[in-house]
Amino acid sequence: MGEPAESFNIDSELTVVQEAAQLITEDVDLDQSIRRILRLLSHLHGLNRGRVLLAEGNDPKKLITIRYSYGLTSEEIKKGRYVAGEGVTGYVYKTGKIALVQDIDEEEKYLTRAVFRNVLPNEMVAYIAVPIFWGKKTIGVLAVHRLRKRKRPFQRDITLLKVIATLIGQGLRIEEMVAARTADLESKNQLLINKMESRGAAHGIIGQSPLLQEAVQQAFLVAPTNTNVLLQGESGTGKELFARMIHIASARSGGAFVSINCAAIPNSLIESELFGYERGAFTGAVSTKIGRMELASGGTLFLDEIGDLELALQAKLLRVIEYKTIQRVGGTKDIAVDIRIVSASHKNLQLAVQDSQFRLDLFYRLNVFPLRIPALRERGGDIRLLAQHFLNKSNGEFSKEMKFNSDALAALERYAWPGNVRQLENVIKRLLLLSDSRLIDGHLVEDVLAHEISSETLISHTVHNTEPGASPGDVRPYMKVVSDEVGEIQEALRRQRGNKTRAAMSLGLTPRQLTYRMIKLKIKNE
Ligand SMILES: Nc1ncnc2c1ncn2[C@@H]1O[C@H](COP(=O)(O)OP(=O)(O)OP(=O)(O)O)[C@@H](O)[C@H]1O
Ligand SMILES: [Mg+2]
Repeated sequence: MGEPAESFNIDSELTVVQEAAQLITEDVDLDQSIRRILRLLSHLHGLNRGRVLLAEGNDPKKLITIRYSYGLTSEEIKKGRYVAGEGVTGYVYKTGKIALVQDIDEEEKYLTRAVFRNVLPNEMVAYIAVPIFWGKKTIGVLAVHRLRKRKRPFQRDITLLKVIATLIGQGLRIEEMVAARTADLESKNQLLINKMESRGAAHGIIGQSPLLQEAVQQAFLVAPTNTNVLLQGESGTGKELFARMIHIASARSGGAFVSINCAAIPNSLIESELFGYERGAFTGAVSTKIGRMELASGGTLFLDEIGDLELALQAKLLRVIEYKTIQRVGGTKDIAVDIRIVSASHKNLQLAVQDSQFRLDLFYRLNVFPLRIPALRERGGDIRLLAQHFLNKSNGEFSKEMKFNSDALAALERYAWPGNVRQLENVIKRLLLLSDSRLIDGHLVEDVLAHEISSETLISHTVHNTEPGASPGDVRPYMKVVSDEVGEIQEALRRQRGNKTRAAMSLGLTPRQLTYRMIKLKIKNE
């Protein structure tokens, strides 16, 4: 460890204190922060082999051990254990007083326990130890070595160390608070997980809210019957998950679960997909193809977004339900099928019936058992549960160990989730990738959600605008016209304390876009 240039410079003291204050209050990783502070003390002020000793739990012997250090070997760290009152360090811990040993070779009480004398410079070495307080109680000791001969008055070192010890005490407090809160959340989470061991959970359906539980129970009641089920619910509420659960819980689980998304496949192709075709039925039909209805025979046919099925096909579907037979396209033979239909729609099918977009007779056939899947915003505490569930899942996927603090969970709960569970899942993934600390906090959640709102507004306005009577004046453009872009970017950076990723999120930009604009507009990140 080299000795730094002799300095009485108040600036370098301020540097250490400012750095320390910032590290302690802003960084979640206290371990690293304290090590960096000890490193600064050594490099800027020659206060070497800094160590922070803390009490071990509720030990009746009041043992203190080295918890953080800089410039000590792991052997030395292990040896640095003192009972209250033992040696100089133990004395400081017991009395809460400061100890200054000007020459360790002359002090009887100095034990030379952690660091052997021959490791230290062959000249007069001093030892300074100050208490770390928690309120009025001494919880530990901050101690350093320095060369006796340095011109810097001891009093300045002591003052500096006292300030640093206060900051470290503060940091430990914050850490304990966070740990307590995290432990609290974890135990609550565990409680919820235990409660969640319900039947729905076995099928990946997470949620404890009464509305969801009711839907799950109804699904289980209807599953073993052969009735057709119509699942209605907003986009992303879990309709497909329910459809699969109904299949698995039914007597048909040995058969296939076959699904077709009527909104994703052009109507011209749906017919041959559903019914299959005979060889030569049309150009390109080089061999016979079995349709999905035949494949689903003995199992379950899931007709997703049934509201998008055109009227001609609705008539054909109705025929299948009534006669329990199909004909392949280009064929004449009736083929018996035994299917149970679970259909789903995010549109209100009753309204479609009123608008003559959907056949009433087919609606009745499909809607033998209506099941409404609640929107996430109607599902009370489920947001927390699902957020934790998706966090665990993503942690596994990305090999991370992120946690939410309680502000983060509160912010997630306040949000309306127009895209429901799917949106929540995506947001959690994004949070995990954007957070630069292990604790996902409320600020980051709010930034990410602010960005969500703008894209959702865009969607809802586009939809709005196609409705009769909506004047173009109702529509607020998504990208607002920025008159003071420089000011806006600077303000965003200031609010996010220079964190570009967060600033970018709050502006609805990607970090790359922000960097590009900053270069273009010659904005410095100060
Ligand atoms: N209760 C739930 N527990 C756990 N995951 C869920 C739950 N509900 C939905 N999901 C997950 O959310 C995503 C969306 O679910 P799903 O595709 O079933 O919704 P959907 O209602 O069919 O949506 P859309 O109408 O957009 O097709 C899936 O990844 C699904 O696994
Ligand atoms: Mg779906």
